[in-house]
Amino acid sequence: VIFDDSKEPSILVAREIADLIKEKNAKNKPCVLGLATGSSPIKVYEELVRMHKEEGLSFANVTTFNLDEYYPMDKSNIQSYFYFMHEHLFNHVDILPENINIPDGKVSADDLYQYCIDYEKKIKSIGGLDFQLLGIGRTGHIGFNEPGSHFNSGTRSITLDHITRVDAAPSFLGIDNVPRKAITMGIGTVMSAKRIVLLAWGGNKAEIIQKTIEGHITSEVPATYLQNHKNTTFILDEGAATEL
Ligand code: GLP
Repeated sequence: VIFDDSKEPSILVAREIADLIKEKNAKNKPCVLGLATGSSPIKVYEELVRMHKEEGLSFANVTTFNLDEYYPMDKSNIQSYFYFMHEHLFNHVDILPENINIPDGKVSADDLYQYCIDYEKKIKSIGGLDFQLLGIGRTGHIGFNEPGSHFNSGTRSITLDHITRVDAAPSFLGIDNVPRKAITMGIGTVMSAKRIVLLAWGGNKAEIIQKTIEGHITSEVPATYLQNHKNTTFILDEGAATEL
């Protein structure tokens, strides 16, 4: 779906999430959200915060799982996804801290493998992701599933692509400061979500959006796996849609 800009669709996506939260709440069920970082979802979070403050939208029944985190990365670091999520959403709504799940960028190397298996198990044990919000990287990554990621992959540690590190360099004040690794939910984890919405804004996403939507399904562009998901919507602005 193509919009003129990112404002209106961000509000519509926030409304879809809010409706899901209320629907689950009416049934006394948890609402399990898979969340993304980056600039793309910021306006969605802004609108959810507004709905909490002005319309009383409660997050008391919400459990969240974030897609990814740099590794190694301290929670208190302003470049961490932990910091980002608290700054843009969690600090401003009534979500219970114990219902927030973000991969821990400080887990020891020895514990990392088991930690990822446990993160995956936790998602399954609560009944899976009701909704997954996604952005897309210029390499075609979703989460940090870089080219080469298997369609069946689960939560794991991954080596970041050079282009991904170049794109992250400004916020780290130079590429040398960008971590070389990350923890990410897998393609299999994302694909298990009942509903997926991918957001892409601006001309610098146009080329990868064209490959993702019109190209062959290939591990070289992991986002192409979404073509096989039954309930995914790509939401674009005019800029991101220019190559379609
Ligand atoms: C990072 C994140 C992705 C995100 C991507 C795009 O690599 N790990 O989850 O989708 O950046 O970021 P932006 O939305 O800022 O373009």
